[in-house]
Amino acid sequence: MPISQHENDLLTRVEHDAPMGAMIRQNYWIPAVPSSLLLADGAPVRIRLLGQNYVAFRATDGSVGVLDEQCVHRKASLALAKNENNSLRCLFHAWAYNTQGEVIAAPNHTGDQGEFCKKLRVNRYRAADRGGIVWAWLAKGQTADSVAPPFPALPFVDLPADQRSVTSVEVPTNWVQAVEASMDSSHVGVLHESTTQITAGGGNERLLMTKALAPKLEFEDRPFGYRYAALRGLPDGQVYARVNHFVMPWFGIICPPDANGPTSVFFSTPVDDVTHRAWFVHYNPNHALGMTIMSATPDVWNFPPLPPGTASNNWGQNRDLMKRGHATGFPQHLGTEDFAMFLSQGPIHDRTDEQLCTADGAVIRVRRLLLKAAQDFAAGKPHAHTQAKDLDYASAQSVGGVLPAGGQWRALVNVPTALPTATQSAKEAA
Ligand code: FES
Ligand SMILES: [Fe+2]
Repeated sequence: MPISQHENDLLTRVEHDAPMGAMIRQNYWIPAVPSSLLLADGAPVRIRLLGQNYVAFRATDGSVGVLDEQCVHRKASLALAKNENNSLRCLFHAWAYNTQGEVIAAPNHTGDQGEFCKKLRVNRYRAADRGGIVWAWLAKGQTADSVAPPFPALPFVDLPADQRSVTSVEVPTNWVQAVEASMDSSHVGVLHESTTQITAGGGNERLLMTKALAPKLEFEDRPFGYRYAALRGLPDGQVYARVNHFVMPWFGIICPPDANGPTSVFFSTPVDDVTHRAWFVHYNPNHALGMTIMSATPDVWNFPPLPPGTASNNWGQNRDLMKRGHATGFPQHLGTEDFAMFLSQGPIHDRTDEQLCTADGAVIRVRRLLLKAAQDFAAGKPHAHTQAKDLDYASAQSVGGVLPAGGQWRALVNVPTALPTATQSAKEAA
């Protein structure tokens, strides 16, 4: 079920006036920067999202500002500015901005400072500091009275800091191929066969995934997207079920590897048409995460690592390691294996010439939801997901477990199933 070139452009492109970028800008809070990167009076951070540049900073009083990157005077970068006295002070001529984007000083202008400054401001965007992430609402022309979209209060957002970890890295490919991968259950036991075995050890439920590579998928619509169960038959007749959620427009919430393990939340935000930022949140609702490879990383803005090479050397793939049994030759991290796949798909994955199979139902649903949202936006229709009445982000709790033969996966899910269901087998995807 390939899609047309027009649909692929609509799905993937976000720059300038592309409908997808405009739809996201208007309707969603975008993860912008890990909270820990912004220190009071610390260095401002340049952020690029949807093809435009912004600057984020934490003022002296701890509040966060997200502004257009360029100073309104003569367009020097505010990422170079001094951050002091509750303002960002441009290096070039010392114009100063508060977190609301107001110019509060223009010292190279003679005359009435107050009168001059009160007409000036740089575009400022609503920011929220929650769940270890600074999020921004990037709608253009917003004022203090504008109504922001509902905040995606996913299950990790209000946990204590020691029960979650946040890392991210910029990856030089389009964002949609990464969002698709987060919902692609059938790659996990293949691409990540060695990674999961190395991290899981013996007896972990994750290993069960490698024993049945063709999961049967069952879907259920949710107001924020959908959830699905990936069902794998085990040799003894029991069924290993993994129930995962897709939350528009980019969150994949992946069930824990076992009863005590962390839930993973993968999301890939569009930096521009050919670059995305891959985010990895791990959380445990019951206890502190402790030392994990994610919680211990010293650089939350650049982790996990990209593949260590370029296309000319197959992105640094280690064939010697493969001869010794490693599944991919990318031992750096599970994320590195995914990034190698995205890079090999090309800067913008061409979906006009694919041969999909029964395992691709969840990927197809991601595309359909995103395409419909962009089409509706272009047609001036209201956005279905963030305006849904029953939007309960906290219910997006992914779970896994082994069921007896004939057992129902919904028994694993601890939220009511009040909505009409759209259950189907993955045959639809063929
Ligand atoms: S360019 Fe920023 S103060 Fe002049
Ligand atoms: Fe993966």
